[in-house]
Amino acid sequence: MTLSDRGGYVLCEDVFKIYKIADLEVVALRGLDLDVTQGEIVAIVGASGSGKSTLLNILAGYDSPSAGKVSVGGRDLLTMTAKQVEEYRRDDVGFIWQQTSRNMFPYLTSVENVALPMMLTNTSSRERRRMAEELLELVGLGHRKDHTPEKLSGGEQQRVAIAIALANKPPLLLADEPTGELDDATAAEILDLFGTVNQEMNTTILIVTHDPDIAYKVGRVVMIRDGKMSTEIRRKVTYRRLTGEAETDQLLEEFILVDGSGRVQIPREVLEELSIGDRARLTIEDGKVTIVPDE
Ligand SMILES: Nc1ncnc2c1ncn2[C@@H]1O[C@H](COP(=O)(O)OP(=O)(O)O)[C@@H](O)[C@H]1O
Ligand SMILES: [Mg+2]
Repeated sequence: MTLSDRGGYVLCEDVFKIYKIADLEVVALRGLDLDVTQGEIVAIVGASGSGKSTLLNILAGYDSPSAGKVSVGGRDLLTMTAKQVEEYRRDDVGFIWQQTSRNMFPYLTSVENVALPMMLTNTSSRERRRMAEELLELVGLGHRKDHTPEKLSGGEQQRVAIAIALANKPPLLLADEPTGELDDATAAEILDLFGTVNQEMNTTILIVTHDPDIAYKVGRVVMIRDGKMSTEIRRKVTYRRLTGEAETDQLLEEFILVDGSGRVQIPREVLEELSIGDRARLTIEDGKVTIVPDE
């Protein structure tokens, strides 16, 4: 099956990213697969150094993979020209950084910050201001439109950041630990806001987070470990809307992910608990695969 045969809006197939520093090679992504449908919200959870930012940077067109296939909305990110990448970044993807200050210019007001990315498109300054005000209303900051970032709280700054990322109405929103610097209550509000954006604008959203409760708030969570997707948690009934409160009574289903070559990851804790070293015995019985330690 090739990329174009599949329905996903965001598709990653067997993606590798190797950083070379002098003689050292760091493998940040090792055979990563991801398939996200248009209009879906997916959370990506993983330990520090597992490759989350590397993946988002590739999807944003800031970086390119060492090997593998990546497409967004049918566009092959590996074969785009520099000009196409520029257009892609301007029109097709919005990005939100963890550091609230990185998302906006300190000397511009909220509305000026949101209007800024629109300068690259063919809209009049009056129209830009109108659209920027509309986006600030959407993120609940209409009343702070003439404030500069220093006069805003961390949560308010992230709301402006979301409005900035949405300035050119991109179909894809990428957020790299957008709630990392916020307290729990504010983080929950921001996650809620992603739900509102998803509903109002049908934006496909990928959020990197290490909030363990995220699975109760988003319909689908993929766990990344050592540069590869390992497990996935889905809610049995998928509501699009995020809720601030974790609804812990909802049923979650956890799956291990099997890649195109049949590889799966066994969590390190399980390997240790069962004393599985570099060899194990695999048996198939009654439609079940069992992996047992080699005594
Ligand atoms: N520009 C870079 N040069 C060298 N190594 C990098 C670079 N960016 C990330 N890495 C390494 O790649 C791995 C994954 O990093 P990253 O994607 O930032 O992880 P995460 O966002 O999950 O914390 C880490 O081992 C990190 O040190
Ligand atoms: Mg990171």
